[in-house]
Amino acid sequence: MSESTARVAIVTGAARGIGAATALRLAQDGFAVAVLDLKEDDARGTVEAIEAAGGRALAVGADVGDAEQAQAAVDRVAAELGPPVVLVNNAGVTRDNMLFKMSDADWDIVMHVHLRGSFLMTRAAQKHMIDAKWGRIVNLSSTSALGNRGQANYATAKAGLQGFTKTLAIELGKFGVTANAIAPGFIQTEMTKATAERIGEDWESYVQKRAAAIPVARAGVPEDIAHTVSFFVSEGAGFVSGQVVYVAGGPKN
Ligand code: CAA
Repeated sequence: MSESTARVAIVTGAARGIGAATALRLAQDGFAVAVLDLKEDDARGTVEAIEAAGGRALAVGADVGDAEQAQAAVDRVAAELGPPVVLVNNAGVTRDNMLFKMSDADWDIVMHVHLRGSFLMTRAAQKHMIDAKWGRIVNLSSTSALGNRGQANYATAKAGLQGFTKTLAIELGKFGVTANAIAPGFIQTEMTKATAERIGEDWESYVQKRAAAIPVARAGVPEDIAHTVSFFVSEGAGFVSGQVVYVAGGPKN
């Protein structure tokens, strides 16, 4: 596919981790990719990696949970790369704490990024998919949606994204747009590394301990998730919509 006719994808939270691996994979798959993160500067590394591999990408800075910034980001992508027809809502934060110690701010920021952010980005991007009569939306849920000690906020947001996904699938299906969710289990990223540090565990032994509880006997890597995103956004996956796939090395976690 030539640059001028490449479909355009937006990946949020794509400076690092699962988002960065997904942006790289979608570029390999032939998409022009908007690498969106809170700060444009942070997104540049992923853009450079995509360009070094011969792909086309744009760094975009935005707080996805801010309505004006989300709309402006989508408008900029449409103007500079082309109309976005793939959206991967990956941006996320954790503020783990036991319920009785969880602050209002720790609840609100998690809802702001995951739920409000996915809502605002999807509302802004969907118009381009409807116009194109083709689109793919992938939302990042988590095994934490099934409940996880210390994550009342995050589990709620990740379960909420599953309901959001299924509703998008129902509303947008007749316009050629699919919506699916991926629920990763334990993936080695800066987010899980920060969790290990916060609870005072050595990273290597934390990974080994987590891997020991996973049926395929290893921890996940961002590319495991990027591969599943690649499937959901592919042409051939047009009859798969409203689904949640747990990518966790086993049936649960
Ligand atoms: N009222 C009063 N006291 C209570 C209470 C309540 N409602 N509930 C519990 N308590 C008490 C307990 O009895 C316990 O008291 P003792 O110390 O006397 O036993 C105390 O409060 C809680 O102590 P803990 O040491 O168990 O808990 P903590 O506050 O130190 O931290 C934790 C617990 C928040 C779960 C912390 O261990 C943690 O953050 N763990 C990691 C969580 C995690 O797995 N996060 C996933 C990150 S990766 C990710 O999110 C990616 C993904 O998608 C999977």
